[in-house]
Amino acid sequence: MPLPTTHRIAITPEPGGPEAIQIVERPLPALADNEVLIRTAACGVNKPDTFERMGFYPPPPGAPEGLGLEAAGTIVAVGASVDRFKAGDAVCALVTGGGYSDYVIAKAGSTLPAPTGIDLTAAAGLPETVFTVWANVFQAGQLKAGDTLLVHGGAGGIGTTAIQMGKAAGARVFATAGSPEKCALCERLGATRAINYREEDFVAILNEAGGANVILDMVGGPYLQKNIDCAAFRGRIIQIAFLQGSRIEADLMRLMLKQLTLTGSTLRARPDAEKTELANAIENTVWPWIESGRFKPEIHATFPLEKAGEAHRLMDAGDHAGKILLTP
Ligand SMILES: NC(=O)c1ccc[n+]([C@@H]2O[C@H](COP(=O)([O-])OP(=O)(O)OC[C@H]3O[C@@H](n4cnc5c(N)ncnc54)[C@H](OP(=O)(O)O)[C@@H]3O)[C@@H](O)[C@H]2O)c1
Repeated sequence: MPLPTTHRIAITPEPGGPEAIQIVERPLPALADNEVLIRTAACGVNKPDTFERMGFYPPPPGAPEGLGLEAAGTIVAVGASVDRFKAGDAVCALVTGGGYSDYVIAKAGSTLPAPTGIDLTAAAGLPETVFTVWANVFQAGQLKAGDTLLVHGGAGGIGTTAIQMGKAAGARVFATAGSPEKCALCERLGATRAINYREEDFVAILNEAGGANVILDMVGGPYLQKNIDCAAFRGRIIQIAFLQGSRIEADLMRLMLKQLTLTGSTLRARPDAEKTELANAIENTVWPWIESGRFKPEIHATFPLEKAGEAHRLMDAGDHAGKILLTP
C-alpha cells in the first residue's frame, strides 16, 4: 500500500480550553533511521495533554508537532536502521508528541509489540501510564512482593495502571479516590482497600495497616505531609505531579526518623536510551502480566479523533475512571 504524504494531527494554536484543539492536515515528516511509522488504531488521552493544551506543559525540544503521548496500530514503514520491526507488525508506542494522529512516527526503542490478549485499540492506552508506573513505582520505588503500595488518584489512567501492576507484582495495594463508584473500581482492579478521601482519613487507615512502603502521589500540596505520616520505615514517596500545588510546608522530623526517601520524576523529557531501557524491562515483566490476564487497560471512553476536544472536556471534568482513547 502506498504511504500517505500527509497525516492529521491535533494542535492548539492558542492555549485554552478544549475548544482550542484543532485537527489539521500536515505533510508526513520523513522517517529518521531509528523511527517507525504506525497507522494508528487508537491513541491515548492523558492528563498531561490537557496541561499542554492550556500552555502549562511545553513539549521538549525536538518533539513532533501536536498533542498526544501514545498510540497503537500497525507499522507501515521502518527507518533504515530498524531491524526489530517490519511493516504489518502490531505495536504500541510512547511518543514525545503527535500521538493524536492517523499516522504516528515513533522511535523504535520506545515501540513495543502490542501484547496479545487485548485488542489493538486498548493497547493504545498502555504506554504512557505503564512507562510512568514502571519508572516510578518499580525502578525508583523498588516495589517488591509483600510490600504495601499506596496509589493516590487510584481511578485515573495512572492509578488504574498502578493498582493492577502493583497487585500483579504481589504487593498489597491501597488506593485513594473521590467517590464510592471510583473506590469500587479500584477494588475491582485489585486494591485490597480503596479509601474515599472525601470521607475517610487515609493516613489513619494506612497506619493501622502497618504503613506504606511505596507511595505514588500526583496530588502534592497537603498530601506530602500526609504521605510522610503514613509511610512505613524506609518507605519511598514518589511524586509524579502536584494537582494541589508544588509548594509545600512539611515537618521533616518524621522523614528523618523513618529514614524515608522522597523523590519524583518526569517521563517525557528522558533521553531515548532511558526510554528504551524502560521498554525492555516492561516487555519482559509487564507484558506477561497482560498476556496472562492479570492486568488489562481500563478504558472509560473512546472518541473519534475529530472529537479530541470532547475527550479533553471529559478529562477536565474529572468524572472519568480509567483511560480515554481517540480513534482516527
Ligand atoms: N511525572 C510523570 O512522568 C507523569 C507521567 C504521566 C502523568 N503524570 C501526571 O499524573 C497525573 C495523573 O495522570 P492521569 O493521566 O492518570 O490523569 P487522570 O486520569 O485525570 O487521573 C487523575 C486522578 O487524580 C484525581 N485528581 C484530580 N484532580 C485532583 C485534585 N486536585 N486533588 C486530588 N486528586 C485529584 C482524580 O481522581 P478523584 O476524582 O478520585 O479525585 C483523577 O482520577 C497527572 O497530573 C499527570 O500530569 C505524570
